[in-house]
Amino acid sequence: MSNMKLMTWSEHFETGVDAIDIQHRKLIDLINAAAPMLSEPGEVAARAVQPLLDSLADYAVNHFRMEEALMVRHGIDSRYTVYHHGVHVGFTEEVAAMRREALGNGNVGGHNLLRFLISWLSFHILAEDQQVARQFRAIAGGASAKQAYEAIDRSDTAAITALTDAMIDMFSLLTERNQNLATANRQLHDAQAELLATNQNLEARVAERTRELEDERMALLAASERIEQTQEQLLQSEKMSAVGQLAAGVAHEINNPIGFVISNLGALTGYVEQLMTLIAAYEAMEARLPTDHPDRATMFAARETAELDFLRQDIPDLLRDSNDGLSRVKRIVGDLKDFSHIDEGEWSFVDLNKNLESTLNVVWNEIKYKAEVIRELGELPLVNCLPAQINQVLMNLLVNAGHAIETRGSITLRSGVEGKKVWIQIVDTGKGMTVEVQRRIFEPFYTTKPVGKGTGLGLSITWDIVERHGGKIEVDSKPGHGSSFRLTLPIERPAASRPA
Ligand SMILES: Nc1ncnc2c1ncn2[C@@H]1O[C@H](COP(=O)(O)OP(=O)(O)O)[C@@H](O)[C@H]1O
Ligand SMILES: [Mg+2]
Repeated sequence: MSNMKLMTWSEHFETGVDAIDIQHRKLIDLINAAAPMLSEPGEVAARAVQPLLDSLADYAVNHFRMEEALMVRHGIDSRYTVYHHGVHVGFTEEVAAMRREALGNGNVGGHNLLRFLISWLSFHILAEDQQVARQFRAIAGGASAKQAYEAIDRSDTAAITALTDAMIDMFSLLTERNQNLATANRQLHDAQAELLATNQNLEARVAERTRELEDERMALLAASERIEQTQEQLLQSEKMSAVGQLAAGVAHEINNPIGFVISNLGALTGYVEQLMTLIAAYEAMEARLPTDHPDRATMFAARETAELDFLRQDIPDLLRDSNDGLSRVKRIVGDLKDFSHIDEGEWSFVDLNKNLESTLNVVWNEIKYKAEVIRELGELPLVNCLPAQINQVLMNLLVNAGHAIETRGSITLRSGVEGKKVWIQIVDTGKGMTVEVQRRIFEPFYTTKPVGKGTGLGLSITWDIVERHGGKIEVDSKPGHGSSFRLTLPIERPAASRPA
């Protein structure tokens, strides 16, 4: 605060003699101007103090001359004039001494100088000059110089009272400034707190908005995933129905010829056996002919031409291979028939845990050497379904699990209820599937197995059956770790599957 003043002019300083008061104001101005420099801690450079000391010397000369002239003019008692002159000389000498000291040392104690000036101001202006003024007033009021001199109060009470009042004024001023400062401080503090609160609020809002955006993003992601899945399922079921019709036709066309080829092959096998027996009988008779009989050579030649020994070996092999081949064709036709639901079966209520067990028995031969079966089955309500088809599904899943295990592993069977649905999970520790394979496993004829081992129809049949039951099938798999197939079926028969 650059305009802060050490002393302020107050009524306590006034003597009532204008000429004197004007000079006193000048002294106070001088002190106020020098106060900031003098109140710095430590010594003050002589150079800096010099102008002040010069002004003080000027002030003393002018002021004292004027005051002493006034005293003479008012006819003040000479005892007092002498005393007062002595005080003036004291001030002048003190200022001169300080000037010398400043010149000698190159500096001066700022605090000392300030203290000197203030005490001078207090005692001279507040005490002595007030006494001068009081004598002026007494003489003007008709008293003699002697009377006026003797009437002045020599105790220090007046001075001390004046000083105390001046100090109280100063204190009030300081208090007021302090209060202003405190208020300003409080306002600053409040403003800071408000700023902080606004800041925090802003941060919280940004965080909240970020969270909301993240949620929205997740929701969008989930939605787009669902759309993708739905699309895939649509595509899948479209493929299914096209393939289903095709399969139904092909299965029907192949089923009849396969039937008679199988039965003919059975008859042929019997006939060949009879022929072989017949040939054996002829051979026995030939052996009984004399060694030089001419028919022997003819018959030998005929046997050689026919490669009878080779035929004997090869015909049974050929027949067996043909039989195997036919069985394979029959199995594929059977799968195709399942796939196209040539045999639909009846809807009935079953405990799927039991179906799981009986299907496991059917495929036990494929599994028993490779996998330990772990059962974690929950109790299930009776489920309304086409049991023959569900068995087909369970069989496909179990056989696949068995195939996936190359040397040894485990197959875990789990089941449970979830609201209005039951679920069955078949988990294997087999070789697992890559994401690319997982994407295609429900396609008809998609297989990664060697020719003859897989038809690639198992899972597409499964998909179709599950679809007709209003259920779903979920896959989870990791190459090298195994796969999990989870089947979910509604307990009640879905309305869409009911005949109109
Ligand atoms: N549990 C499983 N573990 C690893 N791969 C599997 C499993 N189940 C199915 N697969 C894969 O899905 C393909 C298709 O299965 P599927 O439709 O039953 O036909 P197939 O068994 O005749 O190959 C299989 O060839 C195999 O690659
Ligand atoms: Mg299969």
